Amino acid sequence: MKDKNPIVTPDAQDSPALVYTSVQRKLHWWVVVLLLVQWLASDGMVAAMALQAKQQSPGAIVFLGSTLHLFSGLAVFCLVLVRIGLRCTPENRRRRQNAARQPVWVLSLAGVTQVLMYVVLVLMPLTGMLAYFFSSDFGVTAHSYLGRGLLALVLLHVLGALFHRLVRKDGIWERMVRISL
Ligand code: HEM
Ligand code: HEM
Repeated sequence: MKDKNPIVTPDAQDSPALVYTSVQRKLHWWVVVLLLVQWLASDGMVAAMALQAKQQSPGAIVFLGSTLHLFSGLAVFCLVLVRIGLRCTPENRRRRQNAARQPVWVLSLAGVTQVLMYVVLVLMPLTGMLAYFFSSDFGVTAHSYLGRGLLALVLLHVLGALFHRLVRKDGIWERMVRISL
């Protein structure tokens, strides 16, 4: 009998366990690249803020680093809002439920980590803007702690992805990564 409610997405033929559209996968990897830029350029931003406090102007490298940090951070903010929107569509929720063939502890740990990453990815640019535009000490401190939190969450997330690829071999890795290990 024909399925009345088939999982039809542009690339559903690729994998029966497909949960994310190609747009969602591209956004995932663009945000990863931009976060790498954020980390590399963060020293420039810290230096620019220190110079600003002493009312000195930054050199070319510090200016470039801080400008990159500012714009790449704003780009992360916009892309993450789009990602949250895409994740919350009824179609995406239905696909996640259809593909939720995992023990409860795995689903809970992955779900909590992903939601926390989204929360931190929204709060980081907001606290960064507080620090940058309003010279807020609270913004500086919160931004710094959130950065460490994000690092820990990403580490847990990548270990989780590797656990699925190397131990469980259950197709979760392939939902997002097209490189085979
Ligand atoms: C998700 C996006 C972002 C990430 C991952 C990120 C990450 C970081 C990191 C790791 C630092 C170094 C913190 C430290 O040394 O303790 C930093 C510093 C800083 N970031 Fe961001 N950032 C992001 C977005 C932004 C945005 C959008 C702005 C501003 C418009 C911003 C403004 C700042 C400022 C002003 C500092 C220097 C704080 C200080 O004086 O120590 N950040 N950021
Ligand atoms: C800065 C680094 C990263 C961040 C912030 C991040 C964030 C996320 C988020 C929020 C999701 C949920 C997908 C969604 O709802 O749109 C996700 C899924 C996923 N990510 Fe990442 N990710 C990062 C790096 C990586 C890396 C390096 C790998 C692989 C080595 C990876 C593999 C995966 C996989 C396999 C999924 C699908 C998991 C599932 O469906 O439960 N991620 N990632």
